[in-house]
Amino acid sequence: MIHRITRTLFSPERPDAFATFRCLSYFSEDRVRIARLLSLMGLSMLAGILQAWPLAVLVDSVVAPAAPHGWIQRIFTAWLPQSGAAQTFGLGAAALFLGLTQQLLFMRQKILQARINYAAVLRMREELFRWLQAMHLDFHCSRPLGDTVFRLTTDTFGCQAVLGVLIAVAFATVRLIVLVALLLPRSLVLSAIALLVVPPLVWANFRFGRTLQRRTADAKQADSAFLSFAHRALTAIGLTQAYGREDEEYGRFGSAAKTCVGSWLGIHKEEAGYGLAVGIILAGGGALILGYGGYLVQQQRLTPGDLMIFMTYLGMMYDPLCQLTGAQFHLQSGLSSAKRVFEVLDQSPRVCDVARAKHLPVGPRRLTLEQVSFQYPAGTTVLKEISVDIPHGTVIGFVGASGVGKSTLLNLLPRFYDPSAGRILLDGQDIRSIRLKDLRKHIALALQDSAILPADVSENIAYGRPLANEKEIRSAAALAGAAEFIERLPDGYRTKLSEGGVNLSGGQRQRIAIARALLTQAPILVLDEPTSAQDAHHEAELRRTLGGLRGKYTVILVSHRINTIKDCDVICVLAEGRIQETGTHQELLRTKGIYAALADASQAGVSNAA
Ligand SMILES: Nc1ncnc2c1ncn2[C@@H]1O[C@H](COP(=O)(O)OP(=O)(O)OP(=O)(O)O)[C@@H](O)[C@H]1O
Ligand SMILES: [Mg+2]
Repeated sequence: MIHRITRTLFSPERPDAFATFRCLSYFSEDRVRIARLLSLMGLSMLAGILQAWPLAVLVDSVVAPAAPHGWIQRIFTAWLPQSGAAQTFGLGAAALFLGLTQQLLFMRQKILQARINYAAVLRMREELFRWLQAMHLDFHCSRPLGDTVFRLTTDTFGCQAVLGVLIAVAFATVRLIVLVALLLPRSLVLSAIALLVVPPLVWANFRFGRTLQRRTADAKQADSAFLSFAHRALTAIGLTQAYGREDEEYGRFGSAAKTCVGSWLGIHKEEAGYGLAVGIILAGGGALILGYGGYLVQQQRLTPGDLMIFMTYLGMMYDPLCQLTGAQFHLQSGLSSAKRVFEVLDQSPRVCDVARAKHLPVGPRRLTLEQVSFQYPAGTTVLKEISVDIPHGTVIGFVGASGVGKSTLLNLLPRFYDPSAGRILLDGQDIRSIRLKDLRKHIALALQDSAILPADVSENIAYGRPLANEKEIRSAAALAGAAEFIERLPDGYRTKLSEGGVNLSGGQRQRIAIARALLTQAPILVLDEPTSAQDAHHEAELRRTLGGLRGKYTVILVSHRINTIKDCDVICVLAEGRIQETGTHQELLRTKGIYAALADASQAGVSNAA
């Protein structure tokens, strides 16, 4: 039965309830802590409510002793000696005790609540980060990085708002019931007057809540857009400076920043208006109670202490009333953030392990492409029916015009994307049936735009094999032709590289990326344009290194430079998405086809350059 109700309430057809339930699931590990938090909050609420009494009892028992005593007065005075001084002192001590107790409970409650909240935010962030790591490249390439960062850092706070609102609503309800239950027996009419503030308070919360909700959603959108813009602008700072576009970018920055500031100013204005409206309503309520309550005291139909209780409790009703009437707004604000996180979590990574994916220990393997075609999502077909068989130890090269699909083909090997048709096989097994982790351990990549991390040179080279020792790192660097320049850096292998490797030349970055790939000792080495930024000396060095790997590693090489590729055992020439020619350098030259034309053009380029 309970299960059915839960399923109905929290089904995906009820998006808000479903998102609320999902947010709460991040707290499920903290059930015991939440129970402790609720008891602390309960005790703190009780201490807060009781705090109004010592003064009221003092007025009724000591200042106007003729007043009738209720059970609460008796609780406070029964244990005290009858003398006025002792009662005054005792009530003072009770007030101090209640005040301190409430503060202590409140402090514990705050710390515990923060712990619970941050633990849930952390869980949500970890889950989102894992998901982002697993998401296919197209997902990351097709959206602004700033927006993803905003979801990861700011939107993940949404779940804590949801739990906060639910707890606040529960306590506000209990607190209101207790307050009203304490007021009603003292004076029905005065209680009714105290409750007169409820309708205008509800109105104020709805009136301002709706606008605040809308404005907060706009402000978050503006924040996210601002972050995306700032990220993009700072990433392209070199381009901006080179083309003298600082003023335009500054203008765009100003407009994005102003939109953000404008959104938040609007929210603050709305909040100030809300505070004013609530203040006016409460002041009106207070004046009514004071007027009519004073009259009742004069008529001796109410004790002065009770009037004080009314005044104090009217103030105390404000918080729970606002929490109840504003719950929808706060819940929506938290949910709108959480939903942005769920939106990402609900996208399935296109490339992932199939059920019962096979374990494949790292070892020399035959790589086969069988009728592989590929089309980017929302794009034209880039590769068409590519078939090639690469026995272990082969050095194979792919050449072709820019944009023909060479890098795309390499991206299919570690499954950054899956082919739209056809299969890629490792030792006869479709790579989609192999555990992704195992497949990727077989392949070492030095891509066209390999990342350089903001860490030292050694860490950068050892990224694919963090446990490699210094000797291995140095020998990989030497093989990649990087040792010489690294040793000339101020701190050698300990030199810190900046984000994106901007303190290195293009060729040096390439050599670090090649060293990184070589160090992994993966059986298949994939190099995309490894010599595009190298001089003739480094190109020759790399060719020697690759020659030395022949027979021990499979090397897949993509290059525009015929010089880099000419030693390959097999060369495939790509044109119009297909392999148009296959053979060795000499064989291809003899066929006088595309390759020969490329070689001529390349030779002419070299001669002209000379
Ligand atoms: N993420 C992507 N989404 C959509 N289309 C893409 C994507 N990446 C590349 N393309 C398109 O696919 C085609 C092949 O690109 P690819 O990068 O594989 O070419 P390439 O042969 O490596 O070129 P180059 O020699 O210039 O590096 C190009 O037309 C390119 O516009
Ligand atoms: Mg490319």
